[in-house]
Amino acid sequence: MAPPRSADALRATFLDFFAARGHTVVPSSSLIPHDRTLLFTNAGMVPFKPYFVGDEPAPYPRAASCQKCVRAGGKHNDLDDVGLTNRHFTFFEMLGNFSFGDYYKREAIEWAWELVTDVFGLDPARLWVTVHESDEDAAQIWRDDIGMPAERIQRLGDAENFWRMADTGPCGPNSEIFWDLGPEFGADGGPAVDEDRYVEFWNLVFMQYDAQPDGTLVPLPAPSVDTGAGLERCLAVLQGVETVWDTDLFRPLLAAAASVTGVTYAGFPGGDRDVSLRILAEHGRTMSLLVADGVVPSNEERGYVLRRIIRRAVRHAFLLGAANAVTPGLVDATVEVMGSAYPELVDARESITRTVEREERRFRQTLERGLDLLDELVEQGDIQGADAFFLHDSLGFPIDLTREVAAERGRGVDLEGFEARMADQRTRALEAHRASGRSDEMRDVYREILEEVGQIEFTGRTELETTAKVRGLVHEGRRVPSSAAEGSTRVDVVLDRTPFYAEAGGQVGDTGTITTDDATVLTVVDTQYALPDLVVHHCEISQGTIAEGDECTARVDATRRDRIRRNHTATHLLHWALREVLGADVKQAGSLVAPDRLRFDFSYHEAPTREQLEQVEDLANAEVLSDAPVRHYETTKDHAESLGAIAFFGDKYGDLVRVLEAGEHSLELCGGTHVHSLGFIGPIKIVSEGSIGANLRRIEALTGDAALEHIRDEEHALQRAADVLKVGPDEVPERVERLAGEVRQLRTELEAERNRQVATEGAALATDAVDGVVVARRDGFTNDGLRKLALAARDALGSGVVALVGLTPDRAKAAVAVAVSKDLVEHGLSAGAIAGDAARAVGGGTGKQPEVAVGGGPNADAVDDALALLRAAVSDVARSSAS
Ligand code: SER
Repeated sequence: MAPPRSADALRATFLDFFAARGHTVVPSSSLIPHDRTLLFTNAGMVPFKPYFVGDEPAPYPRAASCQKCVRAGGKHNDLDDVGLTNRHFTFFEMLGNFSFGDYYKREAIEWAWELVTDVFGLDPARLWVTVHESDEDAAQIWRDDIGMPAERIQRLGDAENFWRMADTGPCGPNSEIFWDLGPEFGADGGPAVDEDRYVEFWNLVFMQYDAQPDGTLVPLPAPSVDTGAGLERCLAVLQGVETVWDTDLFRPLLAAAASVTGVTYAGFPGGDRDVSLRILAEHGRTMSLLVADGVVPSNEERGYVLRRIIRRAVRHAFLLGAANAVTPGLVDATVEVMGSAYPELVDARESITRTVEREERRFRQTLERGLDLLDELVEQGDIQGADAFFLHDSLGFPIDLTREVAAERGRGVDLEGFEARMADQRTRALEAHRASGRSDEMRDVYREILEEVGQIEFTGRTELETTAKVRGLVHEGRRVPSSAAEGSTRVDVVLDRTPFYAEAGGQVGDTGTITTDDATVLTVVDTQYALPDLVVHHCEISQGTIAEGDECTARVDATRRDRIRRNHTATHLLHWALREVLGADVKQAGSLVAPDRLRFDFSYHEAPTREQLEQVEDLANAEVLSDAPVRHYETTKDHAESLGAIAFFGDKYGDLVRVLEAGEHSLELCGGTHVHSLGFIGPIKIVSEGSIGANLRRIEALTGDAALEHIRDEEHALQRAADVLKVGPDEVPERVERLAGEVRQLRTELEAERNRQVATEGAALATDAVDGVVVARRDGFTNDGLRKLALAARDALGSGVVALVGLTPDRAKAAVAVAVSKDLVEHGLSAGAIAGDAARAVGGGTGKQPEVAVGGGPNADAVDDALALLRAAVSDVARSSAS
């Protein structure tokens, strides 16, 4: 066989090689892992974790895959190295072969060697390996079986040769294979000396332990193998190029980065501009694949990492002086290069472009805002740590840009102060993370029970009442033989078979009762998975005691279950209808199926219109009215895919999957419980739709009796309105419109009437003027009313001063208003100065405006004092202006 020279050929050669050696070839799973300890699928072994640690039996003893991986957050994070080195990525493809307690070190090493030297045809003289310093077995296999010269087997410590998936989970010593690029690329002496010249391209991990949260290493059920070869690095070696950037997988992406920025790529390492181009090419690929798997930019978790990746790319485009959006061109190039291997890119092309371009646009605005502020700051001097942190944290303006801009103007940045604030923030984030960490302590207790019980049979698809045997009881995290423990009112129960559905796939857990013949009654308040296959009933003890070994009857609350399954099947209908109306861009982003309502979250770039939502509701209800049968069955994953079943976001599927056909159109993988025919759902009513984040929408809906109740509540509200208006319900809208018109009309008339009154009263006040001055008390006006009155009197006077004080209409406060005519203002009189003392006397203040001042305060009792103060103030100014 000729050595593979292209990415496609390499994937095929690798998988064929291991298939021929008894491995089941497993397709890449999503970048969004099922495993909650990880942000992203960061290695080929991630989808297989339950098989390594023994949470689930492995469906095959050996597997091989080419897995999409992202290392841009969490334990494995290469984000900061991208662009600077000849080999780091945030997204890459990992070729791997796996043994779940089947073969071990010898086969793993021998096959790797055979593939690398015989099939790939690499020169053995340029290959080096490392092993863990304690791993005598691996060293001996390399030396004696393979014939590797002893000086090319290097022994390193935990940092280099002990691999962990995350802080917890499977881990073990590893052995890595390196390619020597040659003396012109660095120092002699093997990978222990120089990792740029000796490039690691395959890691063989000998999985032995499951790391616990407290740091202890618990041996795995059986020693296993997890190998990972970076596809891009292998390709660089096979194509005889010096860096991953020179492979035919990357050259087109770099060309796109060059074309969208108008900057020419000079090669590796090159200068800053070449680093920026590599970052653009690489990040463009990662963002495209993440969005294709359903991640949307946000401020949390994966969405945040995606946002950082997009923004980092845009920042580099900005540094290169690219004025227009660069991301669409990067996405296009990625789809061209990677689309045949990952068709999800082709399917989602438009929505990827829209999502990342929108994020780019927003970030460009941020950059501009940050630059404006920074401009002001550099005017004043060096940038303080607090300001740099504000720019970074509140505006999202990157620190290195702050430094660059400051440096251009000869200013410094207090980086220590900035870092101190960043460290504070990290500590706060870490504490929050710890506080929310799931307690893993009970895991061992539950694992012991699961080992004893084996498979728990779920009977709840066909019956709601099952006789069963109690196989384990847990009270406050400890296993107990019976619930007789003093004063205990709660206990967690494991049964050998159960009709209770444990919360999964958005559907809440069942409730009900567990009873025994001797009158013990437990109320099941919730049902959850304690481990992937272990259903636990959380119970309150209503009566009696229960012990391990007891026979019992488990009974699901049937009415509640009926409501749940109506909502669950309705969720599928709505999902289908949303895609019909809004297009296949709609991607499920989560759901909640509860007895009282259903919630469906989906990614979509804009708010659906009311008409669109009505169309969705109509389509879903038309399905209900068809009363078509619902078919729920188990089949192989391949078959389900060939039917075109939609897989839920973030779900993990074994080889056998459950397919739900709800009527003619809706086809999804789903393990929940459902109605048998669509008519059983009753009416479906969407009750709300809104945004829950950037590009994320949520609809809530009701079904069956809950929908009816909702409609009836609205009907009652309408009837109440009709009764008040003394019209029929259908006339309410017209009547309300007419009334609103009348109210508007009356308000206008009232306002005009008030103005007339104010004018009349103002004129009357003016006639009382002595030497062009009016000082008077007038109760019953608001501040504004009194102000208008003062202005009216002043206008009637022509030239003069009007100073008024009085109680407000509720008589609880006092208002003060002073108006001065323009000619007197020109002579230096000021309304604000005249009103000041009086306003203060009633406990308030006024403005400083010269023509009119209004104020007031809570001291209603001081109203007469205020009047006296106004008089005094007026005669003061009169005297001073006369003098
Ligand atoms: N899990 C190991 C790695 O990621 C080998 O596949 O390097």
